[in-house]
Amino acid sequence: MRCVIILITMDKKDEKTEIKTEFLVMHMQGEDCVDQDMDGIRRAGEIMQKGGLVAFPTETVYGLGGDALNPDSSRKIYAAKGRPSDNPLIVHIAELDALPKIVSHIPQTAWKLADAFWPGPLTMILPKSDVVPKETTGGLDTVAVRMPSHGVALALIRAAGGYIAAPSANTSGRPSPTKASFVAEDLNGKIDMILDGGEVGIGLESTIVDLTVEPPQILRPGYITKTMLEEVLGKVAVDATVLALASGEECSQAPRAPGMKYRHYAPKGQLTIVRGEEQAVADYINAQARADRGAGEKVGVIGTEELLARYEADVVKSAGSRTDEATIAHRLYGILREFDEEQVTRIYSESFATEGLGQAIMNRLLKAAGHHVVDV
Ligand code: TXA
Ligand code: MG
Repeated sequence: MRCVIILITMDKKDEKTEIKTEFLVMHMQGEDCVDQDMDGIRRAGEIMQKGGLVAFPTETVYGLGGDALNPDSSRKIYAAKGRPSDNPLIVHIAELDALPKIVSHIPQTAWKLADAFWPGPLTMILPKSDVVPKETTGGLDTVAVRMPSHGVALALIRAAGGYIAAPSANTSGRPSPTKASFVAEDLNGKIDMILDGGEVGIGLESTIVDLTVEPPQILRPGYITKTMLEEVLGKVAVDATVLALASGEECSQAPRAPGMKYRHYAPKGQLTIVRGEEQAVADYINAQARADRGAGEKVGVIGTEELLARYEADVVKSAGSRTDEATIAHRLYGILREFDEEQVTRIYSESFATEGLGQAIMNRLLKAAGHHVVDV
């Protein structure tokens, strides 16, 4: 197994602690681990059973995992991410039999959704049982549960004892990592190990659906769309703050997923979304880019393949074809991070469809832009 050891020295409180982040490259076939990987995964599992933290690939984004039933592990996750401790973690499981231990009541709707979408990019909010510490749920009486489909994630969950609490493996406020080097950028020297499974497939975090309310409510849009959920459950609602973000309206309510209130996914450069007819969008962006560059800014554009040739800026990046939302979702966070690396200070993006997977793409893009949208 190829194995790169990275040594970092950190100052923690007064004493000097050295956390060695070990970097293990997986040799998967598709999304399944091969024998060579299993030795590393077993060691990662042992680290977590002793209270340590391991970052790992899932089909959505990389997760930062600790033992979900150990309150100390959850505290360490918040510290490593710099995340507010009222923002609950998702508990990842590898089999359905693991559900009754952590959930006090499993409604029929949960079994139906598990049957249709697990393993996969869907997180369900359910009433928690007593074994789940409040540290993991940010003080809430409910718990978020997901069964990922990625082979490394599933093998790791089993090796760690069945329950991994894992937020996305980024520093709080940065875009979620879609490959291991992005995890290392944020968390090197703060966690014990990074399992490198290459680039993730989907690139946006899981859909979150709250099953403790009637009708079930989408708290965070993702790859599993409202239409797909409604095919299984009948009527499904969407959290008011998610809808308000999409429509640009004010919303006095707090989002029901605590994490959605933070300005997540933000690049360092100021991002503006430009909405309108194709040529008007290109003309507006080019005029802005000229003015910004004149003022000493470095300007980046996120465009679709179809319009790319029309832009004049310092850096122009393709999110993929307009007709291929899966590719746009897959590339978005990577592009935002690349703009940071290239020290782009002003970013303009085309806008995307607001239905289906487009709803998840626009939700993340609007948050990254701090709601900054221009209609032309
Ligand atoms: O795809 C994903 O879901 C990735 C991978 C690693 O599985 N994980 C992820 O976790 O995106 P995180 O922590 O970045 O986002 C979890 C979101 C937060 O917005 C949090 O507020 C919400 O889930 N959440 C967790 N538990 C909740 C609960 N009991 N009630 C409402 N929202 C909850
Ligand atoms: Mg996150």
